[in-house]
Amino acid sequence: MDLPIRHGSIGPSVLDVQQLYKNTGMFTYDPGFTSTASCESKITYIDGDEGVLLYRGYPIEQLAENGDFLETCYLLLFGDLPTAAQKADFDRQVTRHTMVHEQMSRFYSGFRRDAHPMAVMCGVVGALSAFYHDSTDINDPEQRLIASIRMVAKTPTIAAMAYKYSVGQPFIYPQNSLDFSANFLNMCFAVPCEEYKVNPVLARAMDRIFILHADHEQNASTSTVRLAGSSGANPFACIAAGIACLWGPAHGGANEAALKMLEEIGTPDQVDKYVAKAKDKNDPFRLMGFGHRVYKNYDPRAKIMQKTCHEVLGELGIKDDPLLDVAMELEKIALRDEYFIEKKLYPNIDFYSGITLKAMGIPVSMFTVLFAVARTVGWIAQWKEMFEDPSQKIGRPRQLYTGAPLREYVPIAQRR
Ligand code: SDX
Repeated sequence: MDLPIRHGSIGPSVLDVQQLYKNTGMFTYDPGFTSTASCESKITYIDGDEGVLLYRGYPIEQLAENGDFLETCYLLLFGDLPTAAQKADFDRQVTRHTMVHEQMSRFYSGFRRDAHPMAVMCGVVGALSAFYHDSTDINDPEQRLIASIRMVAKTPTIAAMAYKYSVGQPFIYPQNSLDFSANFLNMCFAVPCEEYKVNPVLARAMDRIFILHADHEQNASTSTVRLAGSSGANPFACIAAGIACLWGPAHGGANEAALKMLEEIGTPDQVDKYVAKAKDKNDPFRLMGFGHRVYKNYDPRAKIMQKTCHEVLGELGIKDDPLLDVAMELEKIALRDEYFIEKKLYPNIDFYSGITLKAMGIPVSMFTVLFAVARTVGWIAQWKEMFEDPSQKIGRPRQLYTGAPLREYVPIAQRR
């Protein structure tokens, strides 16, 4: 049977196997989808061998250097960079939706103060669907757009409220006079008793970190959002599913795990011991923040993250951060070690983000929450693309069954 080959605009072509089962009675088998394209997309492209990341064709380095996060949101959602007028209008729309329904603040008091903020995010973002479930007719493009803007605008507020709740401080309302990232830092660190001045260098760094995390092809959490959305579930519930998946230490939880690993290593002279553990087949320990399913070269985001890390430490006057010393030594040793070279394991975005965020005063438990705040626009853009794809249908993978063949029920009295 000839299988049609489809070619993309750039990157690998695909073998179209949609008719395979009908014509051969066989499935393809690809746990983890290492060689499987789940969809056609125009949003993000990664060249793992070259270490290239494009959002709608624009290199991540240029977007991070020249634009802001809301410009990247516009680009991911609508496909092109906005004109000045479009950008001003989009910024205004997002700003107008940053507040959450006042009743949502009651959800927080149901959590223990020491609840992991990602658990709070799963719960409260999922609860957004209770507020908008009936008012979101996802078949109406206008309402899909409003839902998209609401998600981008409200996740930072919900995230900041999770942080405030964990430290027992009052929630801080969004300030419409501040831009997206400055507003987020203000909601996290301002207190009602005195004026809080957002450090512009830290706000710029936060904005760049959001840009770097905005989208990344069909990663695990994005695939979760697409699969949830393929059943017609409302977008707020789909984003909550994406948050749950992102939490795992193999995925978005790696930034929190990477920082804890650096703290466990403690000093550069301990690095060799941990590199040996990472190479030991019998030791489940892995270098968190290293390796990637797609990047078999340096993650371009990690390079920008490292630069941002030095800028933030410099701005804060942190001369020698022991964690940075450990990270730099770990990177140096790993990158010249045969094991890492042969397996093409390089630092990924999670390797330097933790040091930067910790220096900015963000607690470790909030690292993956920030990843979720940034990735919300990517999830929504991918959900929108999936929903608007005329060929889309509910996702329903098949399996290779190796369980018991047909057998008759045995009454309990006859069981031995
Ligand atoms: C993110 O998909 C995305 O795009 C994700 C993401 C995004 O923006 O959405 O980029 C965000 O999730 C980044 C990745 C964060 N995770 C980590 O840093 C956790 C540590 N890394 C790994 O667990 C691992 O590298 C993965 C999960 C990231 C990728 O795993 P794969 O592609 O399934 O690769 P693998 O587990 O099959 O590893 C290949 C080999 C294995 O050795 P062998 O079995 O072939 O002998 O490399 C080894 C692994 O044991 N290996 C590592 C390692 N990562 C892989 N060995 C030591 N340390 C590591 N970190």
